[in-house]
Amino acid sequence: MTDEPLLSVRALHKSFGALHVLKGVDLSVRSGEVSFLIGPSGGGKSTLIRCINFLETPSRGEITFDGRSLCHEDGAVFHVAPERVLREARSEMPMVFQHFNLFTHRTVLENIIEGPVLVKRRRRDEAIADAERLLREVGLGDKADFYPEQLSGGQKQRVAIARALAMRPKLILFDEPTSALDPELVAGILDTIRGLADLGMTLVVVSHEMSFARKLADVVHFIADGTIVESGPPDRIFDNPESPRLSGFIRSILH
Ligand SMILES: Nc1ncnc2c1ncn2[C@@H]1O[C@H](COP(=O)(O)OP(=O)(O)O)[C@@H](O)[C@H]1O
Ligand SMILES: [Mg+2]
Repeated sequence: MTDEPLLSVRALHKSFGALHVLKGVDLSVRSGEVSFLIGPSGGGKSTLIRCINFLETPSRGEITFDGRSLCHEDGAVFHVAPERVLREARSEMPMVFQHFNLFTHRTVLENIIEGPVLVKRRRRDEAIADAERLLREVGLGDKADFYPEQLSGGQKQRVAIARALAMRPKLILFDEPTSALDPELVAGILDTIRGLADLGMTLVVVSHEMSFARKLADVVHFIADGTIVESGPPDRIFDNPESPRLSGFIRSILH
């Protein structure tokens, strides 16, 4: 047993050209913890989780995941781990996107086994057996040979979740997983995510579903203008916000 967080982010910065988006983010995630990131549009939530698993390369700062440094600073020099290390880390903290990001020309089953076979080098027959079990678990046991366009948005998002689980992840990053769904499909996906939390999976969730965050989160981080303005347990964040910025945000989403 160790007290080390599974994921540790320190003084993280990200610029796109002249646009300084992340301005020194500190974030720790413990194993088994459910963290929610909330905040106004354009505040840097997506950029932060994309930097965490190196879909974007940070500009400065430190990320440590499961005991491995993904990037750090040594004096004035910014070091990034070799691509092999980044690829492995990325496979252990897959992302579930708002728009599913499935391969449209591949079947549901092929979408799920691609990562395990190509990245994790699992045997194809084992990856298929695993994928079939995961599809049953997310309620899509009969959809293995379908193509994404033959599925509803909620079913596509379940495939994306099964694809993430097929990597046997240590952490799953969700970027507004229900924002693209018709309202009647949202609850099913929230239930699926709740099921992962109940199993003890470590989750980092960007979401505008505040009542869901209140019920599920161990900790809520409020991000605005590229920094974490306030963090705390959900009741504290929603009922007793300290900063004017957070109280304003909460008022704006409740009315
Ligand atoms: N690839 C990119 N190139 C240039 N600017 C970007 C890119 N991705 C995000 N941004 C900018 O970074 C800021 C933060 O965006 P984002 O992280 O998507 O915020 P959020 O997810 O909180 O809505 C926005 O101003 C956005 O336009
Ligand atoms: Mg976003």
